Amino acid sequence: MEVIEILREASNRIYENVKDLAGTEQAAGDFGIGDGGDISRNIDIVAEKTVLDYLKEINFECIVLGEECGRVELSNNSKGYVIMDAIDGSANAVRGVPFFCSSLAFATENKLSSITDGVITNLSNGEMYWASKNKGSFFNDKQIKVQNKEPIYKIVGINISGASTDLMKRLHPIFENHNHTRHFGANALEMALFARGLMDIFIDLRDKIRIQDIAAGYIIVKEAGGLLLDANLNPLDADLSYETRVSFIAAVNQKILDEIMSQINK
Ligand code: IPD
Ligand code: CA
Repeated sequence: MEVIEILREASNRIYENVKDLAGTEQAAGDFGIGDGGDISRNIDIVAEKTVLDYLKEINFECIVLGEECGRVELSNNSKGYVIMDAIDGSANAVRGVPFFCSSLAFATENKLSSITDGVITNLSNGEMYWASKNKGSFFNDKQIKVQNKEPIYKIVGINISGASTDLMKRLHPIFENHNHTRHFGANALEMALFARGLMDIFIDLRDKIRIQDIAAGYIIVKEAGGLLLDANLNPLDADLSYETRVSFIAAVNQKILDEIMSQINK
């Protein structure tokens, strides 16, 4: 079975197991601080267990890097890493805001740039975004590309959750300059919308995002033709460690990148 098929099946199983849980009291149950540093909610635990059980069931020889469960070695003859954010947008999921997803990726080395496959499933409706290296990005069964026309309304995705005063001051012109700014609260799904052509740029300069939150989005954005850069505008890369936090910008082309970056205060 190809890795992408394994990730797609794991993702489908998460959807089946959590689709009736979001927004219920049961979803919110507190399981203490997970390895990613946030409180693990029952819905996070149910979703992660679904993936771990499935990978064990099919004897997939890998090391899982889960946001809540941490590093789980399912084999000592591992083929690579399954980078798992079983629920991205946990706060939305717990409240029942219909914008949360699962994010599963596979990397052969301890590097973002070695990711070969990624799947993001919108868990409010089961829609799936997926990509494999050099094979393109897909939304359900349709190939997707980033937006390539001059948009009627420019949509600027920008994550400002927990942003510092200093960062807000730097970003302020973007809000002031009549851009249509958006922030939905599930980073992976926002990267997927960008890859599908629904946003022109997506910016997260908080230095807070974890590898689990961007791993599947990394390959889906790249295979859809997007530019994916770090805060210094170099190609985004990082190791897969739990301490790593990144900033990134996904842009459909150099023109919009230059236009929006020129608005950010130094
Ligand atoms: C969070 C979401 C959110 C972002 C946070 C992440 P989680 O992931 O992606 O959009 O602002 O930094 O932690 O905690 O719901 O998996
Ligand atoms: Ca999560």
